[in-house]
Amino acid sequence: MSKVIYTSGKEPHARESRVVFKNVDREGWDPSIARYMSEGGYDQLKKAMKMEPQAITDEVKKGGLRGRGGAGFPAGVKWGFIPPNNEKPVYLICNADESEPGTFKDRYIIHQDPHQLIEGMAISSFAVGAKLAYIYIREEFPEGAAILEKAISEAHEKGFLGKDVLGSGFDLEIYVHRGAGAYICGEETGLIESLEGKRPYPRIKPPYFPAAMGLYLCPTIVNNVETLCHVKHILEVGGEEWAKTGTPNNTGTRILCVSGDVVKPGYFEVQVGHVTMGELINDMCGGLKDGRKLKAVIPGGSSAKVLRAGEKFTVGRGDDAKEIDMLDIPMDFDTLAACGSMAGSGGVIVIDDSRSISWVLNNINAFYAHESCGQCTPCREGSLWMKKITDRVVAGKASPADIDTLDSVARNIDGRTICAFGEACAWPTESFIDKFREELVGDTDASNSEKILNPESLAAAANLS
Ligand SMILES: Cc1cc2nc3c(=O)[nH]c(=O)nc-3n(C[C@H](O)[C@H](O)[C@H](O)COP(=O)(O)O)c2cc1C
Ligand code: SF4
Repeated sequence: MSKVIYTSGKEPHARESRVVFKNVDREGWDPSIARYMSEGGYDQLKKAMKMEPQAITDEVKKGGLRGRGGAGFPAGVKWGFIPPNNEKPVYLICNADESEPGTFKDRYIIHQDPHQLIEGMAISSFAVGAKLAYIYIREEFPEGAAILEKAISEAHEKGFLGKDVLGSGFDLEIYVHRGAGAYICGEETGLIESLEGKRPYPRIKPPYFPAAMGLYLCPTIVNNVETLCHVKHILEVGGEEWAKTGTPNNTGTRILCVSGDVVKPGYFEVQVGHVTMGELINDMCGGLKDGRKLKAVIPGGSSAKVLRAGEKFTVGRGDDAKEIDMLDIPMDFDTLAACGSMAGSGGVIVIDDSRSISWVLNNINAFYAHESCGQCTPCREGSLWMKKITDRVVAGKASPADIDTLDSVARNIDGRTICAFGEACAWPTESFIDKFREELVGDTDASNSEKILNPESLAAAANLS
């Protein structure tokens, strides 16, 4: 096969392993079905149509594929939760809402390699017995929706979708559904409500685990774009072989989206756990800007708990336990969880010493206060209270006692809500206070406000109530 050349002015870094992103920003590549098929596109669907559905699920289980949308739940295990002897229709939903701040990977796949996603979805639909599948795409991605519509119609013409896919007797339709333009539409049960034409009010789990009671209360598998793309690659090499990439229990590759205070922000597809936080920031992203020092990293999208530069963590168990520095954390699901944060959706936000922690937290709190769906009192009221308190901090109008109140509000949201948005909005505040209490308290002193005030915080201060 000819050498892959990339056009973005950004050749993959030597530490990258491009699988799902192989064709992103690639010279001579286009999103047409002809181009996709010229390099074996849809060969895995052809293979799948000759397999038993359960055998496909078994390969995905053997591969150990963990969801790339946030929680890192094993995809094959989730597929196995569809009740046995189910007689209702089964649905597959591709979550293309990509709303977690700091995350910008799914949109590249949709724009530049839509057939990879459609092939992954067709194989996954066959495996779980879904004859109807939806791509729920973020409202703000109109071009992506049009590209997907075109790709679906091309796949229809070739017999990869529609009645009797490739003569297998299996019928499959995929529909693109434009989202409702809210962060909570990315939460799977909120997404399902929205797809049913209602407000995206998340449902309580149990009983509404989608695999058992999802769309129209039928078994529904919801997976992220990147997760579904991996299915095709697992089938290509087999689950066991695929699981040799990455690290045990953290298999395969994943896309890390790096933003914030680094010289070269962007996307990087790496084997899970093969790159440390320090290698990612200092080597792959070209390090921090001149003269700047690292202050903090949010490793998995804005809802992940922040890690402070210089923090030490104990990882491993028993004789294997060791202390590591924050920069030595391998970017995998389990280690980031052991360090008190999470790999989440792969959105790594780097914060240097030019940033005011109060300002960063206020920015995050403003987002969550705006996005709460309002069903649960702790989340609806608490997210706004947290924003109002940090508004006061950045305006130099808070008192040290406000930081205790802020902490108490966050801890009274966490664990007391219908959906995980409660944790998503509480964790930033909890962790920023745990790691940067001194700076936050210092910022309540009005004489410090000069260094944190900027146009946004001034605007917030003007609106203080
Ligand atoms: C508030 C909130 C927002 C979410 N937003 C997204 C999103 O934009 N995209 C996504 O794939 N998953 C999102 N999730 C996770 C989904 O609920 C669900 O777990 C995921 O789509 C499952 O796919 P996966 O197993 O392939 O990761 C969100 C979760 C929460 C709590
Ligand atoms: S936790 Fe927040 S976003 Fe989730 S259902 Fe409750 S109010 Fe809505």
